[in-house]
Amino acid sequence: VDDLHSIRKVLEIHKDQLELTQQQLLQLKHITNKKYGPSLPTIYAVTPTYWRHVQKAELTRISQTLQLVPNIHWIVIEDSDAKTDLVRNLIVESNLVVTHLNAKTPPFEQLKDKDPRWKRHRGVEQRNAALKWLRENLVLNKDKGVVYFMDDDNTYNIKVFQEMIKVKKVGVWPVGLVGGLNAETPILDGKTGKVKGYKSGWMPNRPFAIDMAGFAINLDLILIKTDATFSYKMEKGYQESEFLSYFITKEELEPLADNCTKVYVWHTRTEKPVVHGVVPGLEV
Ligand code: UGA
Ligand code: MN
Repeated sequence: VDDLHSIRKVLEIHKDQLELTQQQLLQLKHITNKKYGPSLPTIYAVTPTYWRHVQKAELTRISQTLQLVPNIHWIVIEDSDAKTDLVRNLIVESNLVVTHLNAKTPPFEQLKDKDPRWKRHRGVEQRNAALKWLRENLVLNKDKGVVYFMDDDNTYNIKVFQEMIKVKKVGVWPVGLVGGLNAETPILDGKTGKVKGYKSGWMPNRPFAIDMAGFAINLDLILIKTDATFSYKMEKGYQESEFLSYFITKEELEPLADNCTKVYVWHTRTEKPVVHGVVPGLEV
């Protein structure tokens, strides 16, 4: 621990001479933390994001939540042809360890012709880009962590991150304000404590009737099951269920958040603001 403190001191003092950016300094801290500190698994928080007037507000909210969480590696994937300065600036200011990617969702019409049952899924392209990055850059049995699909518009209590680092395979918990209910939640068997079903406003009989915000997956599984991806072919509302089916059975799910009695994440949706004019020169 003393070692770690002196390394950090040296890094702080020499920051200017070394011409390290704040971001690089944090990355080094992250590395020393892993080497010398308590070996908490890294949380890979995967956030698809796209341009709209509230984008910076949403990303500010969740990046500042993440600043309260140790061992976060934030993977931000822009739904765009190129990375934007708005997101780039926000990432630099966040002081978080971040991987910044972009992956544009193909035009809606293109896919509609192919498959009449196809409905627009959000975040597919972006989450797949993140999965690809994880599989190309992390090493099974060497890198330890959990993967959490963290949409940019939800509201997160930092306790949800303390829960997910316990995940051995797939952990699950309730999600507030979703599916036409005040919350969706796995239902536990009183005797075994295992998940026996779901309280869900929509199709509770899905194999996994869980919103994207209601589960985290051990990185090992992501690295082993390389064929597991999201797809436009998945039926509307089945993305989570079909994705989880690659990894696990219902009986193996690990109920967290006090046996699914606590709500630590809310599926909030931000009202689209009326914008009549744009002030030039302001990044909003
Ligand atoms: C629900 C689920 O909570 C999502 O995880 C799921 O992807 C989505 O349904 C779905 O069925 O596809 P919802 O609130 O309806 O979520 O979706 P959004 O929050 O609008 O989008 C989910 C994520 O994708 C967000 O992080 C958003 O920024 C991103 N997104 C959305 C894009 O990258 N591009 C888009 O065009 C739209
Ligand atoms: Mn949403």
